Amino acid sequence: MRIIGTGSAIPKMAVTNDMLSQFLDTSDEWIVPRTGIRTRHVITDEKLEDLGTLAASRALEMAGLRAEDIDFFLCSNVICEYATPSLSCIIASKLGITAPCIDINCACPGFLYAMDIAETYYKAGKARNVLIVCAEEPTKMCDWNDRSTCVLFGDGAAAAVLGPGENILGTRLHSQPAPDKIWETIPLNSTPYSQTCTSAVPLQMKGREVFKFAVNASTTEVEALLKELGMTKEQVSWYMVHQANIRIIDAIKQYLGEPEEKFPTNIHDHGNSSSASCLILLDECNRKGLFKEGDILVFSAFGAGLLSAAAVVRW
Ligand code: UT7
Repeated sequence: MRIIGTGSAIPKMAVTNDMLSQFLDTSDEWIVPRTGIRTRHVITDEKLEDLGTLAASRALEMAGLRAEDIDFFLCSNVICEYATPSLSCIIASKLGITAPCIDINCACPGFLYAMDIAETYYKAGKARNVLIVCAEEPTKMCDWNDRSTCVLFGDGAAAAVLGPGENILGTRLHSQPAPDKIWETIPLNSTPYSQTCTSAVPLQMKGREVFKFAVNASTTEVEALLKELGMTKEQVSWYMVHQANIRIIDAIKQYLGEPEEKFPTNIHDHGNSSSASCLILLDECNRKGLFKEGDILVFSAFGAGLLSAAAVVRW
């Protein structure tokens, strides 16, 4: 397949570190050097499905396709208001898409998992034009009294339209199951036969362990995938790394021995918007005209699960 359109939609409210320090024992001086984050966008009166729909319509417009041209729709989402129907169905109804709709929850690497599934369907002859939307509102998962998590996240949606082509050169998915590293529970209803034993626990994260996993998984997967494809790092034009923490990106850069200028970032503006991160970054870079035809883009993302993934794409 080939990425033929991208789009994104970001909530209007930008929350600075100084705004957080008005109600939280934190500071710009703590947050910036440890994370790289200066502001994050937070959903106020917007609906996540509307942001997802707007991002998708922007990607469709760039691709020059209409809703009826899409024959497979994947939506990556960790949490939204609806348990059912799926977020993809809700967005599809707003766009007028009638193709099969599937939601996946692969946390932060969701875009790369979706791209891998899209490519597999394409190669099996089951899809020609695929829409991927990553729509996330992690700010609704956090306890806003917990300074170790709420300062890190931001909301947003982004989309990619994939059409026929041979430009997804390879993908690599990895899991190292460890559900105690990043988790959150939401209560289900009690029944006459079972009292709900799951109480709501907001997002919990063992930050240092996740940090180590992220750096290790990213560098290992990227090097393994390039080797598998018979490619060298010299051929790579851009690394599109999940925007979780600037220090994670710096460590990956250092381990890979690759120069700063190959790593575009936008974490300072957005924070970590889970699976939407990589795709928001892709759309921003794309609309700035950063990529030229033939450029090699290496994607790397990691997160809850623990899951990670890498992909190599020719632009
Ligand atoms: O998509 C993947 C998801 N997650 C990640 O990628 C996160 C990976 N991990 C990280 O980014 C880092 O581990 C963090 C940024 C979350 C934390 O940085 P750290 O250097 O690992 O700090 P820490 O958790 O070890 O905390 C050090 C201190 C603690 O105080 P004490 O116990 O030493 O007194 C924390 O309470 O910093 C304190 N602290 C804060 N202080 C001010 C934690 N968060 C804050 C804060 N403001 N926001």
